[in-house]
Amino acid sequence: MPITPTFFPTVATVDLTALAHNLSQFRRILSSGCEVMAVVKANAYGHGAIETSRTLIRHGVTRLAVFSTEEGVALRQAGITVPIVVLGPVFQEQFGDLFVHRLTPVVSDPSVLMTLGRAAVSRGGSQPIHLKIETGMGRLGLTQKELVALIRSYNFPPSLRLEGFMTHLADADGSDPDATEEQLSRFNSALQVVLEGGFHVPLVHVSNSGGAVRFPSTHFSLVRPGIMLYGYHTLPDTVKTPDLRPVLSLKTCIAQLRTIQPGETVSYNRTFAAKCLTRIAVLPIGYAGGLSRHLSNRGWVLIRGQRAPVAGLVCMDMVMVDVTTIPGVAVGDEVVLIGQQENERITARDIAEWTGTISYEVLCAISPQIPRLYHSS
Ligand SMILES: Cc1ncc(COP(=O)(O)O)c(C=O)c1O
Repeated sequence: MPITPTFFPTVATVDLTALAHNLSQFRRILSSGCEVMAVVKANAYGHGAIETSRTLIRHGVTRLAVFSTEEGVALRQAGITVPIVVLGPVFQEQFGDLFVHRLTPVVSDPSVLMTLGRAAVSRGGSQPIHLKIETGMGRLGLTQKELVALIRSYNFPPSLRLEGFMTHLADADGSDPDATEEQLSRFNSALQVVLEGGFHVPLVHVSNSGGAVRFPSTHFSLVRPGIMLYGYHTLPDTVKTPDLRPVLSLKTCIAQLRTIQPGETVSYNRTFAAKCLTRIAVLPIGYAGGLSRHLSNRGWVLIRGQRAPVAGLVCMDMVMVDVTTIPGVAVGDEVVLIGQQENERITARDIAEWTGTISYEVLCAISPQIPRLYHSS
């Protein structure tokens, strides 16, 4: 029988009320008839795909998007029955799983379309797919030329049903809207080719969170928000964004305290040397847990409502912080790495700024081994 520990010093708490709030705020900006296909890939951006999906479904989301077949299978095994679109590439070896678990692949390559078509014949049914068009992301998708060749040669496999038609925006959060307008224009031409080919495509989708907020002309039948559901965005400050609340907090507690003398050093390679009598707290989380090593000597945590700077290099499973100026600190004290404590707050966006990345990466990096605790506020 598996043994369940009774105490976790480090936990990620996920506020399901904030998640529902973000969904409803995001929906307010959508044109009528445009629905949300919630993106829950990468373990719902670190929030836990199963519980996040269940909450979104309880609040009316009728479609989910994951990256991989494995992610889709895991949701099915957890009893999630709504349509699930697999955004990432699918491999021939995964077709069986797609069919058995009723997952809808995004097909981005003509040869995959053909092999999937042949595999679907043997299943005897009509397998729904979404076709992805490359319009400027330079990643997955049929080129306009490949699309025209496919549609005009009447080569679309009859065992497949073209349920969706999509592309992905490269620069929805960039400073210049022109690139997005150009992508949209290419997409509209591609859609025209498909419609003139006699296809009825019920689900047309283009936008991620930022694109949906900034470009209402990308509101086709669906939009695919991820990051805004989790309370963040990367849009320029000049763009009016929905009222979002961060959903995830990351907390640990103090494992040990020590006082070091001037000149004594902390952590590997001795990059932090005390300038005066210094109180150091040892925390049981490091880069294996998702705390970036780029926070070494430059990140902050919250203890007793005050900011404590990271001292020395972040280790694999531990990090040290300087608590000299915080009175009364004790072993076992709560430490907030992401979230609010008294009047202070650290967001994933703050950490992203300190480490030269984006909030997406900060959230996704939180190890799945750290327990997620779900609560409603
Ligand atoms: C194809 C696709 N659609 C939608 C999204 C969601 O994007 P965002 O989190 O910016 O809303 C992503 C995220 O990477 C994606 O790859």
